[in-house]
Amino acid sequence: MKVAVASDHGGIHIRAEIVKLLEEMGIEYEDFGCDCETSVDYPDYALPVAEKVANGEFDRAILICGTGIGMSIAANKVKGIRCSLCHDVYSARLTREHNDANVLAMGERVIGPGLARDIAKTWLTTDFTGDRHERRIGKIMDYEKKA
Ligand code: RB5
Repeated sequence: MKVAVASDHGGIHIRAEIVKLLEEMGIEYEDFGCDCETSVDYPDYALPVAEKVANGEFDRAILICGTGIGMSIAANKVKGIRCSLCHDVYSARLTREHNDANVLAMGERVIGPGLARDIAKTWLTTDFTGDRHERRIGKIMDYEKKA
């Protein structure tokens, strides 16, 4: 699995924690910034990274901002992206099992690094259940084709 990681200035500490986790788990990744603590715009990170998942360059992505909300809204504008904003481990597991989420968003001003790590670990290691959930995702993809 190849994972893309990015954050705005509001998510740099949790991004560093996620990078550490990916290293520990031996998962291939690329860190797309941001590089500094000055203010940047989350769509400038969410959109190109989500496109890299949509075009198959990366299998998954993890995006962090202050709340995770901006990153998730922007990422979900890209066709083929199912980005889930998760601040608990249960949602992280279920969004993989039921929604086959390919992007995870989290907010550094909402949760701490320990929980972010547990959420990411669960999200990275949980498989999609398929079956009836496949049909439901298919309906979203059909809608995207029309839009
Ligand atoms: C930046 O101040 C903040 O708006 C951003 O990190 C994010 O929370 C937006 O949804």
